[in-house]
Amino acid sequence: MKDWIRTKYCGELRKSDAGSTVILNGWVNRRRDLGQLIFVDLRDRSGLVQVVFDPETLGPEQFQQAEGLRSEYVIAVQGQVVARPEGQVNPNLATGEVEVLVSSLVVLAEAKTPPFPIDRAEEVDESLRLKYRYLHLRSRELQEALAMRHRITAAVRSFLDSQGFLEVETPMLIRSTPEGARDYVVPSRVHPGSFYALPQSPQLFKQLLMIGGFDRYYQIARCFRDEDLRADRQPEFTQIDVEMSFVDREAVMNMMEAMILHVFREVKGIDLPAPIPRLSYREAMDRFGTDKPDTRFGLEIHDLTASLKNSEFRVFAETAAAQGVIRGINVKGGASFTRRQIDRLSEQAQAWGAKGLIWLAVEEGQVRSPIAKFLKEEEVEAITKELAAEVGDLVLIVAGGYDLVCDVLGRLRLLLGRELGLMDENAYNLLWVVDWPLLVYDEEAGRYVAAHHPFTAPLDEDEHLLETDPGRVRAKAYDMVLNGVELGGGSIRITNRRLQERMFAALGFTMEEARRQFGYFLEAFEYGAPPHGGIAFGLDRLVMLLAKRQSIRDVIAFPKTVSASDLMIEAPAPISEAQLKELKINLRN
Ligand code: AMO
Repeated sequence: MKDWIRTKYCGELRKSDAGSTVILNGWVNRRRDLGQLIFVDLRDRSGLVQVVFDPETLGPEQFQQAEGLRSEYVIAVQGQVVARPEGQVNPNLATGEVEVLVSSLVVLAEAKTPPFPIDRAEEVDESLRLKYRYLHLRSRELQEALAMRHRITAAVRSFLDSQGFLEVETPMLIRSTPEGARDYVVPSRVHPGSFYALPQSPQLFKQLLMIGGFDRYYQIARCFRDEDLRADRQPEFTQIDVEMSFVDREAVMNMMEAMILHVFREVKGIDLPAPIPRLSYREAMDRFGTDKPDTRFGLEIHDLTASLKNSEFRVFAETAAAQGVIRGINVKGGASFTRRQIDRLSEQAQAWGAKGLIWLAVEEGQVRSPIAKFLKEEEVEAITKELAAEVGDLVLIVAGGYDLVCDVLGRLRLLLGRELGLMDENAYNLLWVVDWPLLVYDEEAGRYVAAHHPFTAPLDEDEHLLETDPGRVRAKAYDMVLNGVELGGGSIRITNRRLQERMFAALGFTMEEARRQFGYFLEAFEYGAPPHGGIAFGLDRLVMLLAKRQSIRDVIAFPKTVSASDLMIEAPAPISEAQLKELKINLRN
């Protein structure tokens, strides 16, 4: 075969192609040698097709070559597409109605036996898959996930382009700032002893672009954060980063809502209902125990403090007296849980910090509970009424400080939701969480810190509380949540100098200190800053949820492990003495 360049992708072939001659390129997925005939599943990006080597059509020399084929050899074949006879059709394969009778074979590359079969990569240890990422990338899961990632990014770009947004790149080598997560730093050779930082987000630059008159900016931006990793966090990740001028909160939220709905329509063919529901931060915490509620199922939290504050059960009375809360959830049908199941939930709640988990099983005419003897009839009635508990239900109650009770019940709710299969796996529940606190008290630092960042504007109606009751000030901030995952967050920024000074004062630093840290940025605001606001979405998380994967590692071409290592290129790694010397760096042991 002189000309081995493909005329068709493997996965494209259909019955209608029967009779045509094609050239295919790809990898040997599997080879079956039946002596007289050799069958190969040939794989390329588009899928698989069965190709058949028959000594009659191929001649002895080429047939011998076909006998030498092994998994992952790269080959080109020319042959005729033939319809498979009735009964030999493979319904599990898109190309299952045809096969290709090979007339010519070229081996383009041989391959060592791979450390795992490509189509069974999921069965081996993840570290092996990460070490040979380029092999795992050949798998259907990763090919599909990255193709979806591409389609999502393309849909985002086309939407934002149609709305007049300009894609602008911002620098990767910037200055370290103390707020936020830990920075990754890069030593400077030219300025020994000085370091760049990699951006945690383009936040300050996109605001400067607004001051620079760009009006509508976006960037598919790489961000770097040296933080504790988990399934939805990577040390380097990608944001869909957006900023707009001359807008209020509604304008940003409406635009972003339209963008996300556009992505769902384009990529998944789903028309999600608009507008996306909104919850205040407070309501999210009260009802779901978390700032990123999964609203695909109920099992909501209810407050029982008022009904139980005078209880003879000491824990309740003491909690109420100490300004704590008593709250519960109603597990429908949970009265049939075994003692062991309940004990396990209780242990779990304690591991999350609860002093204990109180349970009441509602039975005909009575409740079964370790604290039944302490509860007055009207208290039992109040509990079952508030939680709409019926015979057969199990009420779980936690008492303690507000944050702790929210956290424990929120986690229990998710655990039970998963275990009892209450979540519709095919549902996409989008939600805005709004009216976040502007400041949160940091016990360790002994001061308030910005809940979002120091440039987030307070709600107009709360601004007057900034000095007197900072913890109660709500922010012009918004987060978008999808199925219990924080997809994105942003805010309207402070553009009024006086307000910015008050914000810094609330954070416990003077304008002088602020100027030392953010000098160039604050100065820019003195030259005419338009009102502006924006948001950033985690692209990796969006792809993970749309592709229905468990981890963002499954939708990133070359991800890192939870200990921030790349097992394939073996990074991070020591650098040579010469490099260190050039950077004028001495390592401390
Ligand atoms: P924020 O810090 O909330 O906001 O980040 C925005 C979104 O980025 C995603 N994200 C991550 N994804 C993967 N790995 C990580 N380590 C990680 N950290 C964050 C989340 C999150 O919602 N500059 C502001 C946005 C703004 O105000 O405009 C910012 O970065 O999905």
